[in-house]
Amino acid sequence: MSPFLLTRTLPEDATEAALRGDVLQGLTRTPKTLPPKWFYDAHGSELFEQITELPEYYPTRAEREILVARSGEIAAATGARTLIELGSGSSEKTRHLIDALDLSTYVPVDVSESALTQAGHALIAERPVLQVHALIADFTARLALPDTPGPRLLAFLGGTVGNLLPVERAAFLASVRALLSPGDALLLGTDLVKDENVLVRAYDDAAGVTAAFNKNVLSVVDRELGADFDPAAFDHVALWDAENEWIEMRLRSRTAQTVKIPALDLAVDFAAGEELRTEVSAKFRKEGVRAELSAAGLDLARWWTDREGRFALSLSVAR
Ligand SMILES: C[S@@+](CC[C@H](N)C(=O)[O-])C[C@H]1O[C@@H](n2cnc3c(N)ncnc32)[C@H](O)[C@@H]1O
Repeated sequence: MSPFLLTRTLPEDATEAALRGDVLQGLTRTPKTLPPKWFYDAHGSELFEQITELPEYYPTRAEREILVARSGEIAAATGARTLIELGSGSSEKTRHLIDALDLSTYVPVDVSESALTQAGHALIAERPVLQVHALIADFTARLALPDTPGPRLLAFLGGTVGNLLPVERAAFLASVRALLSPGDALLLGTDLVKDENVLVRAYDDAAGVTAAFNKNVLSVVDRELGADFDPAAFDHVALWDAENEWIEMRLRSRTAQTVKIPALDLAVDFAAGEELRTEVSAKFRKEGVRAELSAAGLDLARWWTDREGRFALSLSVAR
């Protein structure tokens, strides 16, 4: 069996320092916000996997349908020897792509060490000749990738790009382009604008799994920074912002309350009904995706959707 390499690109205390910075900045401003990357401790990653199986959460099934149908074309078009995947999580859907490509190395990149470890061990057991070099890293920070054979295909699936605000997305896509050589490709999963009810239900399921996922960020702050958030004192909110064409997930304080965060020597007041934004999930249209890619130096080459036109995978090539 080939070895499974796991590299932490940042020292462990850098993660805690980043959490402190985000919590201090996000909870002392109006409106209050926290970045979505802090959902994903081991429990949050597990809850996300449960979300992908929910009847209301169509994006995973839709994207898998496209990957099953198109991985052969993607392999033929790119000839990729290295597959880099940002926010790879369980790498579940990626297996279709891995099997179609004639790969030397797979480089999954994620903030969740538990997800990377589980996925990496499973992959090398199933595919003994595949080299897996996983990186624990923040894809919004400067990434240092291992030196692996080209051509490179960089995949960013799941619609996770929609969790970045437009200005962050522009910087992110430019940084992705900088990781590629001319002719290398980006495979980008984008959820598409559709009926509001379908969208809201995908983020507010009947079984309450997304609510538990949303509240998990409070448990992460409690554990890591000694805070006394009571997740039960907040309600899960998912709403469609028609102007920005994104879903917002929020946590709404049920009562007026003060939360103490000893590691920051901070007390945070919430008014009754006050909301903390925990995630945006932008929904896209083809021409918008083409324009954003082009601005970053990537030319849209292929655009595939599932049969119901709910989700798109685009293949773009670095200029
Ligand atoms: C919405 S999930 C998608 C997972 C998988 N790609 C899929 O399509 O099912 C987002 C993934 O990105 C990871 N993630 C979120 N923010 C990140 C960041 N800033 N840097 C690296 N990974 C991040 C999470 O741990 C999680 O595995």
